[in-house]
Amino acid sequence: MRVGCPKEIKNHEYRVGLTPGSVREYVAHGHEVLVETGAGAGIGADDGAYAAAGARIAKTAADVFARSDMIVKVKEPQPNEWVQLREGQILYTYLHLAPDPEQTKGLLASGVTAVAYETVTDERGGLPLLAPMSEVAGRLAIQAGATALQKANGGRGVLLGGVPGVLPGKVAVIGGGVVGLHAARMAAGLGADVTILDRSIPRLRQLDDLFAGRVHTRYSTVEALEEECFSADVIVGAVLIPGAAAPKLVSREMLSGMKKGSVLVDVAIDQGGCFETSHATTHADPTYEVDGVIHYCVANMPGAVPVTSAHALNNATLHYGLQLANKGLKALADDVHLRNGLNVHRGRITNRAVADALGYELVEPAKAVMAA
Ligand SMILES: NC(=O)c1ccc[n+]([C@@H]2O[C@H](COP(=O)([O-])OP(=O)(O)OC[C@H]3O[C@@H](n4cnc5c(N)ncnc54)[C@H](O)[C@@H]3O)[C@@H](O)[C@H]2O)c1
Repeated sequence: MRVGCPKEIKNHEYRVGLTPGSVREYVAHGHEVLVETGAGAGIGADDGAYAAAGARIAKTAADVFARSDMIVKVKEPQPNEWVQLREGQILYTYLHLAPDPEQTKGLLASGVTAVAYETVTDERGGLPLLAPMSEVAGRLAIQAGATALQKANGGRGVLLGGVPGVLPGKVAVIGGGVVGLHAARMAAGLGADVTILDRSIPRLRQLDDLFAGRVHTRYSTVEALEEECFSADVIVGAVLIPGAAAPKLVSREMLSGMKKGSVLVDVAIDQGGCFETSHATTHADPTYEVDGVIHYCVANMPGAVPVTSAHALNNATLHYGLQLANKGLKALADDVHLRNGLNVHRGRITNRAVADALGYELVEPAKAVMAA
């Protein structure tokens, strides 16, 4: 199969669908790889690195789209990309179609077979191609919080780890899933006093075992949230109710009880945010203040560290990408977890959440692939 990787064109997107390391794997499996010139510039991988890995370098994105059987990307295709897709071609990337009717129409009109990273599943019920970005965002949340906590940046002026003779800062992590675990790990590593709040008791048990007493766990009630938020220096919002907007767990009223200069990092902002006063910000201007409390609400946190993020993403996407390249549509027939990633196929919607959200008729993915 000829596998194509265009340069990402979404604003401030520096990751790349295929790293040179991934290219080597595809080539080793007998595939031809076509990479747009400059595609890896954002992660410091130049055309020479791709050529050394066995890729052919295409001068334009148009060339990649026209000549490839499968397109591997990071972000959802932009309008001038989806018009270049066609029936018989596989698109493998993040799509997030449910809130995006325009892109959905574009993909349906193209006839492409689109596999969305965010809906591929694993045998434990997880979302393996979404998890690496949650790991990055969770770890980054503490770096962002610690920076915003510095006096010159508007924060309280507390060092999270403290020093001998001075108590460390307090971190409250709301939601102990993938983001929450990694935020807690970073904060504990810095020496902060960390509490994770969650609604799942089995999850709190797991976290308690994992941190062996180094991190406190607490069942998330309104009272517990208030107590933790009022005493914290950094509060990380990391809740997720799959398929739903994030619940607003911290109200505007609660801000008045918090320490002036404390920091809210709302990682769940991509799902609407879990603090009432959150609104999405960008890496160019990541923070703002409400009632003396600093808010950090960047919707694409992993974009700040594209080298780490691109490699973490490629580690997760490579296995399924190779299945698609090796077997084409048969890979979808053979593997229910990869098939769960199928969102659009030959002008039909094949994902229930997308069909429900946008009012399309659902064609079961197994049926769609069988009919292919
Ligand atoms: N901003 C970004 O760049 C970025 C990057 C990656 C992920 N995210 C977002 O971060 C959020 C968390 O992702 P995740 O992968 O950790 O999800 P996850 O499913 O692994 O974890 C969510 C946790 O929230 C808990 N939860 C649900 N309701 C709760 C409540 N009322 N109180 C306390 N805990 C509650 C769940 O029990 C679960 O443990 C998602 O919205 C995700 O989209 C954002």
